[in-house]
Amino acid sequence: MKISVLGTGNMGKALVKQAAAYAGGQVFWGTRNPAEAAELAKTFQLDGIVTGSYEEALQTDIIIPAFPASAMIEWAAAHKEKIKNKIVVDISNPFNDDFSGFTTAWGESSAERLQSLLPESKVVGAFKNTFFKVFENPVFEDQKSDVLVTGDDEEAVRQFIERFEPLPFRFLHAGRLANNRTIERFTLLELELAVRYGTYPYISLQLFGIKEAVPAN
Ligand SMILES: NC(=O)c1ccc[n+]([C@@H]2O[C@H](COP(=O)([O-])OP(=O)(O)OC[C@H]3O[C@@H](n4cnc5c(N)ncnc54)[C@H](OP(=O)(O)O)[C@@H]3O)[C@@H](O)[C@H]2O)c1
Repeated sequence: MKISVLGTGNMGKALVKQAAAYAGGQVFWGTRNPAEAAELAKTFQLDGIVTGSYEEALQTDIIIPAFPASAMIEWAAAHKEKIKNKIVVDISNPFNDDFSGFTTAWGESSAERLQSLLPESKVVGAFKNTFFKVFENPVFEDQKSDVLVTGDDEEAVRQFIERFEPLPFRFLHAGRLANNRTIERFTLLELELAVRYGTYPYISLQLFGIKEAVPAN
């Protein structure tokens, strides 16, 4: 399955580097400024990366919009038809501008909001708890960073995990999209903890007690 990452911000760069190094095959990097992205790909010495417009990036099977949550809403509304049946990976955390709370109400998540905007696409939540710096070194004290993968389409969750498994993270099936109500809110607590303990922006999850990343049921 072909992958595209959209956006050249902190997460876009981090995801593209990891995908280029481990996912195999061609990775498409979409941006508002393809010439700059091509320069970045050269600087980072990324092989197998093709840069282009956001429009061109819609042709792949798995699309990761690494946009601010608000920009993602506009993007989804504009491209709904073209991304029907595709896997859209939601990495967004709907924090407000001063990081004191959320733009979503209690009982609502950014991932569910995206799925309702894209009813004919398969939204998979992932990487929400993984701050961008962690991508440079996802293994801390011999333990891989956990990535909680969610989705209402089981097959899409499976396909995402299969495609991303070569990356040096531990991917855990974390259930339905509604679990992002918790996952997204927990990310803000992680941020606060990272600032308190002086590790920001190097912070992610490592859950204790799960030996194998194979669900028992
Ligand atoms: N930062 C983290 O550690 C972290 C961790 C987990 C999840 N996330 C989530 O990942 C997403 C991206 O975060 P980020 O930190 O990578 O953000 P960022 O550094 O601000 O980058 C966002 C990128 O989105 C693209 N974009 C497209 N439309 C845009 C618009 N209208 N306004 C601004 N940017 C637009 C831009 O790329 P082009 O200029 O190339 O088009 C921009 O560089 C967010 O939803 C965030 O909640 C972030």
